[in-house]
Order: sequence, then structure tokens, then C-alpha cells
Amino acid sequence: MKVIAFNASARKDGNTAVLLKHALKELEKEGIETELFQLAGRKLQGCIACRKCFSAKDKRCAVADDAANECIAKMLEADAVLLGSPTYFADCTASMKALIERAGMVARANGDMLRRKPGAAVVAVRRGGAIHAFDSMNHFFTISQMIIVGSSYWNIGVCREAGEAEKDEEGLATMATLGRNLAWLLKKLNK
Ligand SMILES: Cc1cc2nc3c(=O)[nH]c(=O)nc-3n(C[C@H](O)[C@H](O)[C@H](O)COP(=O)(O)O)c2cc1C
Repeated sequence: MKVIAFNASARKDGNTAVLLKHALKELEKEGIETELFQLAGRKLQGCIACRKCFSAKDKRCAVADDAANECIAKMLEADAVLLGSPTYFADCTASMKALIERAGMVARANGDMLRRKPGAAVVAVRRGGAIHAFDSMNHFFTISQMIIVGSSYWNIGVCREAGEAEKDEEGLATMATLGRNLAWLLKKLNK
């Protein structure tokens, strides 16, 4: 079994990465393979509404000159998907929105190909807007017929400078519980 986590921060190995890694660590303890895919520095544009994915139905995006198809293939291959983003202007980042648009449209064009895969969103925030960012990512899971996994709180870490997420004890505990809940669900689903 494998879980893919996307970090859509512009800052590689920043707070969102810290939070995602805390969830992934719990999955690894349960023998589940994980991968953290960081979008920082990679080109990824939003959907151009060409609708070619609906005619091609090849589980790929027709815009092939950026990271979208690599990300989509990783989602397809994985047993579960984590979406991680810092809060930017009270929402997820533009990179995360681009990933949602591209993967979401290709999934819909291919018979909801991510249907029933578990997923969860993770957010880093300095002060405000985290719930909106969390909701934005959850919209991807619900329209894709995916199964959202919860934790003991909404999956948020309070932090500003890179690495500060390590000091948010409640945030880290929330990530660990999320990882354990996802591991539990994956084991039930793959019995
Ligand atoms: C462009 C930009 C916009 C931001 N907007 C918000 C915001 O609306 N609310 C907030 O609490 N923090 C905001 N922040 C702060 C980040 O969410 C915070 O520093 C977070 O820990 C960064 O995570 P990262 O290290 O994974 O990039 C913003 C940061 C940037 C660069």
C-alpha cells in the first residue's frame, strides 16, 4: 500500500512539509509506503478548459508540459492521497488550486477514476484562513467521490517561519492521529 502526499507550498521543506511528514511517519510505522511530492519550483498551471481529457479519456491531461500528469499518475497509483498547502490569502496556494483543477477534471473525464480512494487535507497557517484553505481542498475529495479521513481536530498547524510547525504540539498530535486513522482505514479496505 502507498500514500502520496503533495506539498503545494512555494517553500520546499517548510511547515506544510513538516505537518505532512508527521502524518506520513505514522503510516510508515504501520508498514505503509509513503511519498512526499513537493511542488515548489515545479511548473503547474491551472486548467485551460480545453476539455480534451473528455475526448481522449486516457487518464492524462492534454497540457503535457508541466507537472500535472506526473501528479495525476501518482494519485492513480496510490491507495490514498494527502493534499497539503499553507494558507495564502485565506485559501490554499495557487499551485494547489492548479493541481485540484487539473487532477479533478481528468478524474471526472475518466469515470471518477479516484473514486473511493481515501484522502485528507493538511494546512499550515500563521493566523487566519486555514479553515477556508482546508475546505477548498476537501472540495476536491468530495466531488471526486473520495473518502475523507478525519482527525481529533481539523488538520491544521499554526506556524510562520519555516520549521515552526515542529513547535505546535496540538497540530503535530492532530497530524499523527490523522496518519493513524488513515492507516487503520487502508488496512480495513485492503483486507
Ligand atoms: C503569499 C503568502 C500569503 C499568506 N497568507 C496568509 C494568510 O492568509 N493567513 C495566514 O495565517 N498566513 C498566511 N501566510 C503565512 C503562511 O501560511 C505561513 O507562514 C505558513 O506557515 C507557511 O507554510 P510553508 O512553510 O509550508 O510555506 C501567507 C504567506 C505567504 C507567502
